[in-house]
Amino acid sequence: MKSFKTIICALTLGAALVGTTATAQAAGDAAAGEAFYNTEIAGNKYAKSAPGYNKVGCVTCHSSNLRNNGAHIKTGKIIGPMAASAGRISLGGKTYTRFTDNKKMAKWFKRNCNGVLGRECTPTEKDNFLAFVKSK
Ligand code: HEC
Repeated sequence: MKSFKTIICALTLGAALVGTTATAQAAGDAAAGEAFYNTEIAGNKYAKSAPGYNKVGCVTCHSSNLRNNGAHIKTGKIIGPMAASAGRISLGGKTYTRFTDNKKMAKWFKRNCNGVLGRECTPTEKDNFLAFVKSK
């Protein structure tokens, strides 16, 4: 009887682990998202529009520490921390929580991916980016 219980336990644990792995993959790869975030690209639209910046990536405006404020490279406008753990952010008279407003996310993904990559981000790039910022 004892060994029977052990087997059931092992099977349940195995199933739980498989489930966790599958979910983590579906939600994006944080390490890939980090690499993507930190890649600065020469001569893109943002680099051309901001004097003094030859290369621009997500990190250039959003800061290398996700818990710090960033700053827009062209306008100098402060950008609240990207880390999801920053909680509610107040900027320009508006208060919001990071990565909860799908319309806002779609708008900024579109604008910033075009500015940095010259195209929209792929669903995988977005998932990886979100996995990274949500891990901080
Ligand atoms: C030229 C500056 C700049 C660069 C470069 C930039 N962003 Fe942003 N990003 C902004 C600004 C400004 C906002 C809007 C203000 C805010 O949300 O704090 C924003 C907001 C966002 C948001 C919305 C966040 C939310 O709370 O929903 C996402 C997603 C985002 N950026 C992704 C990216 C990605 C991905 C890259 C790199 C490919 C990138 N950004 C590069 C300036 C930039």
